Order: sequence, then structure tokens, then C-alpha cells
Amino acid sequence: MLDLVTHSAEETHKFGEKLSKCLKAGDVVALVGDLASGKTTLIKGICEGLNVRSQVESPTFTLMNEYSGKYSIYHVDCYREWRLEEWLKLGINEYLYGNGVTLIEWADRLDEALPNGTIHIFLNQEIEDENCRYIAIDAKDEIEKCISLMGFGNLR
Ligand SMILES: Nc1ncnc2c1ncn2[C@@H]1O[C@H](COP(=O)(O)OP(=O)(O)OP(=O)(O)O)[C@@H](O)[C@H]1O
Ligand SMILES: [Mg+2]
Repeated sequence: MLDLVTHSAEETHKFGEKLSKCLKAGDVVALVGDLASGKTTLIKGICEGLNVRSQVESPTFTLMNEYSGKYSIYHVDCYREWRLEEWLKLGINEYLYGNGVTLIEWADRLDEALPNGTIHIFLNQEIEDENCRYIAIDAKDEIEKCISLMGFGNLR
């Protein structure tokens, strides 16, 4: 596990950019956190780090957005469609087990389908400070080491 705190949306974005440098083709990043915890902000940072030039927005209504950058990037949002069965019918496994990078908001809803090696990121807003986010990362050792070498997070 890795722990870190960001103090602004810009810092969360910057963390996403750094984290992106640790990603490889086929990786899945599962983001879990309440409304406005910063999932989309972090994903925007990841996409910037992966040279996505198009607009990155939450695919709340479209369920999934696809961007091209260093990899094919699939931005999935399970807020409106939370049923695993429906996602399986929509063919989510093709993305989860494909060669792109898949970034998932409200990923707890797909938990049972996520591949081994999924990078889990938990975001929590601090009650006393509206601009503070606690971010915990649970990933393979090599990814956690890579992130901490980027200057983010304390290894636990
Ligand atoms: N440290 C921080 N990190 C990220 N966002 C922050 C931070 N401090 C304040 N914010 C604000 O919180 C909001 C986060 O919104 P964002 O869309 O990234 O959240 P989300 O988790 O994707 O929400 P949703 O569940 O609606 O998809 C933004 O308005 C952002 O400016
Ligand atoms: Mg969002």
C-alpha cells in the first residue's frame, strides 16, 4: 500500500501525470471514491501524461470514452450502470484483458471482474479541509515502487 495526501485539484492532476509514467499496455486502474473525491481529476492527469490530446470527460452517460495517446485508453464510469452483469454483456472483458489502458471510475462495482494486477486507487475527501484528498494505492510492488520513486507517497 502507498499513502499520500493532495491539497488541491492541481496536485491530484499532477499525481495522475506522474502515475501515468508507471503504466504499461494492458494495465487497469480501478478508482474508488465518493462523488467529487477526485477520480476524474486524477484520470485527466493520467491522460495528459499519456499524451491524450482530446477532451477527457466523465463518460457518465456514454458509459465509456476512448482516447488515443501513448496507448489506447478506455475511460469507464460505473456510476449509472452499476450492474456487473450488464457490463459483462457490454463486453467489458475485451477492455479489461486487452492491450490498452483501462481507467475505471466507481470500480468497486466491477470488483469481481477485475484482472489480477489491477491497480487500485482509493480517494477520500478529508472532512475538515475541502481541498484535501487522502489517496491510497494498492498495486503490485513494481508499480508501488515506481510511484514512490516519482516522489509521491509513503510505502507502508
Ligand atoms: N485535492 C483535490 N483533488 C482533486 N479534486 C479536488 C481537490 N480539492 C478540491 N477538488 C475539487 O473536487 C472536485 C473533484 O471532482 P472530480 O470530477 O474529479 O471527482 P469525481 O470523483 O470524478 O466525481 P464523480 O463521482 O462525480 O465522478 C473538483 O471540483 C475539484 O476541483
Ligand atoms: Mg468523475
